[in-house]
Amino acid sequence: MKVDVLVIGAGAAGLMCAITAGRRGRQVLVLDHANKPGKKILMSGGGRCNFTNLGVTPAQYLSANPHFAKSALARYTPADFIALVERHRIAYHEKEQGQLFCDESSKLIVRMLLDECAAAKVRVETGCGIRQVRKSGESFAVSTVKGEIHADSVVVASGGLSIPSMGATGFGYELARQFGHNVLATRAGLVPLTLSGKHQEHYQDLAGVALPVAAAKVGKQAFRAGLLFTHRGISGPSVLQISSYWQPGDDLRIDLSPEQDLGQWLLVQRAARPAAELRNVLGDLLPKRLAQRLCERWLSSKPMRQYRDAELRDMAARLHDWPIVASGTEGYRTAEVTLGGVDTDGLSSATMQSKQVPGLYFIGEVVDVTGWLGGYNFQWAWASGHAAGEAA
Ligand code: FDA
Repeated sequence: MKVDVLVIGAGAAGLMCAITAGRRGRQVLVLDHANKPGKKILMSGGGRCNFTNLGVTPAQYLSANPHFAKSALARYTPADFIALVERHRIAYHEKEQGQLFCDESSKLIVRMLLDECAAAKVRVETGCGIRQVRKSGESFAVSTVKGEIHADSVVVASGGLSIPSMGATGFGYELARQFGHNVLATRAGLVPLTLSGKHQEHYQDLAGVALPVAAAKVGKQAFRAGLLFTHRGISGPSVLQISSYWQPGDDLRIDLSPEQDLGQWLLVQRAARPAAELRNVLGDLLPKRLAQRLCERWLSSKPMRQYRDAELRDMAARLHDWPIVASGTEGYRTAEVTLGGVDTDGLSSATMQSKQVPGLYFIGEVVDVTGWLGGYNFQWAWASGHAAGEAA
């Protein structure tokens, strides 16, 4: 069989690329080894798919080359995807901080993409593993479990390593290496952090305790959002976000009360409730079990009147800058994304085409571009897919 464009991976990026190329009149085939397309879309956003973010800028993406994503993001914007969603009459809402979710179900986004594929005469085949891709003259010969396919362009949209149980593989990275591309070290991102040693001992039975707002910091990067204690460590949006910036050995700090000047607050509390113990006072601001545990294991607890001003100020400073030692991450099993991947140095930022192998493209998560939590990763999948679909 011969097609113009063969897309490997029927996920967010692959389907968008196929739709865009199909609309240009290209004959497109999408292959996926999983039993159905768009599995990660289906499970995303708690089943409601946080499909984009109104505030997308290149600054919310991590990459060895922070400029690479600019062109594609500028040429396919959140407004473009929203227009598509509205054309398909899918109801959506803004949850917070520009994050757009379906009112009903992620299934509607997959349905929309498949309907668009059908309209653009794109064929999508699932349950089809790829055995080998080789260059054959000007085009490619791709051997699959269902036979050999010849294609002028091959678009690799096979995603990253996160959630292997959903069909994630290192296929895209291996293919990139086979064609001479550099692949930057990969690691799990947007992932809960684990604790060990005394930190795990002190806090593991707080599993389920949550703070509505904390600020997790690594170096100059900080994220202010919810924090959650888990059986193995810490999670919640602030931790997931900072996990993409954290590497083993990095100094992680958490401001447990970013919206309240604790120094001032403790002085006021001492004047108002001099006989109250610090742990009970703090329990009015933080979850009670956490306040108690921090006082037992790290601070102290005596009646407020026994603390001098400087002691309260010092305590406040420590609570605004809690040094919690993470031992690692929960890994790809629970990570939302994979950091690193195909080095953007080898790709055109306008088209995602390989600089050394004409006709070969890499899009979506397999590329070394990773977004923050909040719809940024899908926007990269749509934008990079669109860029390649216009060129392939
Ligand atoms: P994606 O992983 O979507 O697709 C790759 C496809 O390639 C898969 O269908 C896979 O089966 C196929 N494939 C892999 N190897 C293959 C092989 N050898 N042969 C054939 N096919 C192969 N982002 C966001 O912006 N908002 C959100 O709400 C969420 N929520 C979310 C929840 C969870 C639990 C996870 C794990 C992730 C998210 N994400 C997210 C991240 C988002 O899902 C991710 O960034 C995109 O799906 C990446 O799109 P891709 O198309 O690049 O890969």
